[in-house]
This record gives sequence, C-alpha cells and structure tokens, in this order.
Amino acid sequence: METIISPSILSCDFANLMNDIKKVEPYVPWLHIDVMDGHFVPNISIGVPVVKSVRKITDLFLDTHLMIENPDKYIEAFCASGSDLITFHYEASKSNTLKTIEKIKSLGKKAGISIKPKTDPKEIKDFINLVDLVLIMTVEPGFGGQKFMNDCALKIPIIKNYSKNPDLIIQIDGGINNETGKICKNLGANALVSGNYIYSSQNPKEAIESLK
Ligand code: DX5
Ligand code: ZN
Repeated sequence: METIISPSILSCDFANLMNDIKKVEPYVPWLHIDVMDGHFVPNISIGVPVVKSVRKITDLFLDTHLMIENPDKYIEAFCASGSDLITFHYEASKSNTLKTIEKIKSLGKKAGISIKPKTDPKEIKDFINLVDLVLIMTVEPGFGGQKFMNDCALKIPIIKNYSKNPDLIIQIDGGINNETGKICKNLGANALVSGNYIYSSQNPKEAIESLK
C-alpha cells in the first residue's frame, strides 16, 4: 500500500489558505489540520470555523489533529465541521480515553489516538485495537518546522506489535522529510504528516513524490 501523505496546513499562509491547499490537492489523499489551544501546547492555531471553510473547498480526507485539553468537549463540533478523522491526545484524555474513542465513532468518524515524545507506547496498549489510527509524535507538539526525534520512531514497531488490526494506520508527525520519512516507513509506518518540508519546497509535488 502506498504511504498516506497528509500535508499539514500549519505551514500554509493562512491568508492564502485555499491557494496553498490547491498546490498539494492533486497529489495527496489527505490534509492534516493542526488544532492548538494554547493550553495543551504552548501555541494557538486554528479551530472549527477554519475546518468548516476548508471542507467547502476540497474533497480531500480531512485528518484533524486535536492538540487540546478536554477534547471531549469539542468532538461534536469538530465532527460536524466536516473532519473525516479525529485524532486526540491520550495525555489530554487519560481518565476518559475509552469514552473519547466511542464518542468519535458514534458520530460516524474515524478515530485516532496520539502520543507525545515522552509517552510510553505501553500506556495506550489497551486502546490500539479500538482505533483506526495511532499518531506518533516525533517532535514536541506545538510548532511546525522542528527537528525529528529519532528515538520516537522506535515506537513504530512496538505499536505494530501490539496491533491485531492489519489495517491499522500508523502515522508519524513532526520533522518529516524524504530522509526521516524513509526511516519511518522502514520501521513500519504507513502514513506521514509533513508541513515544512512540503511547503518550504519550490516544488511541493516533487517533495510529496519523494515522501511516497
Ligand atoms: C506539530 C504538528 C505537526 C506539524 C508538522 O505540533 O502536529 O503536524 O505541523 O510540521 P513539520 O512537518 O514542519 O514538522
Ligand atoms: Zn499534527
């Protein structure tokens, strides 16, 4: 199966968002939307109204990454906004993880669970067979353009080993370029998020092809 490439709109020029989405749209199946609340991460990005607007201008599969405290409070709104998949952070939902997953699924969306660099994959072992996607962060969440942390990629085979689902999507996010993407693929990842590498390239199409 071809690696699912999901360009992160965090690296777009928000005043020219449609234009920047159209630059990648013909070459990818997914679009990654980074939602940050200034609490779970030390940065504020975008929210529901932007997802709604993006939904109107593209048919790409919208992969929404919630880097927010108390994700349960906002799941209905993000599902209604047109997201196709909602990934929440395990660290933000610890006592409620099962309910969070059930809520996303009951609203007819795919569910993803994400872990930060310092979180042991063992902590999410019980949830891996209940979700569609596991997102492994290879930078501290909060900003685009950071350096890939090699150690975090070693979580890929561990997650794979816990999974009984041959269709589980193992997605890697943070510092992905042609070299780090290859490391992740070789370790068993089948989906890559990439912001800075794609959008700082003179030729986003070529950058995307190099990730595939
Ligand atoms: C970081 C975000 C990432 C980020 C990826 O908190 O979750 O999706 O935008 O950007 P790059 O590819 O630039 O590291
Ligand atoms: Zn992300």
